[in-house]
Amino acid sequence: MIEKSLVLIKPDGVQRGLISEIIGRFERVGLKLVAIKMVHPTHDDVEKHYTLTDEWMLGVYTKAKAKYESVGEKFPFTDHQAYGKSIKEGLVNFLKSSPVVAMVWEGETAVSLIRKMVGNTEPASATPGTIRGDLSHDSYALSNTQNRPIRNLVHASGNVKEAEHEIGIWFTDTELYKYEHVNDRVQYDPDWFLSK
Ligand code: TYD
Repeated sequence: MIEKSLVLIKPDGVQRGLISEIIGRFERVGLKLVAIKMVHPTHDDVEKHYTLTDEWMLGVYTKAKAKYESVGEKFPFTDHQAYGKSIKEGLVNFLKSSPVVAMVWEGETAVSLIRKMVGNTEPASATPGTIRGDLSHDSYALSNTQNRPIRNLVHASGNVKEAEHEIGIWFTDTELYKYEHVNDRVQYDPDWFLSK
């Protein structure tokens, strides 16, 4: 199934000069860029992007707690809502601190492919070969000690429904391009080789 996914290069990726490296990885895997812009996000943009639901707060809490426990450490937070709220507040301040690059990439199972390429939320746990694993090494332990969100270079949509919602936050319909890319033929057209 051809899907679209939203990717944001967060302020740390922009500031560290990793824009071309990150874009290059998505180009090289054969995805098609259908929208791109640099945006200095407003408070509202980020508020909309990270919706503070109980499910989201529990998700970030459980993920970080599991990492601490996997290395035999006690997670120093007990309330998932308080943890989730502080992460969300930190993310809003972080994302509006500097321009970000917003993009929409399209391709066969693009959402899960991009998540695989982006890697684990915590760069220190992300495997080599992934964007977060190769280009950063921040950890929950360090970011929580410093009372800030983790700096993990990129955001990528978690599933197709989330991607549709997030694309609508960052792009209008007219900013999403429909065009023929050579990869449409080389990768996906069953007759491409035969018709030569
Ligand atoms: P999440 O959606 O769980 O991760 P991902 O970006 O991999 O989909 O969390 C959203 C962002 O919240 C994540 O990119 C970085 C930040 N975050 C923290 O700062 N601390 C945490 O303990 C977690 C789990 C996330």
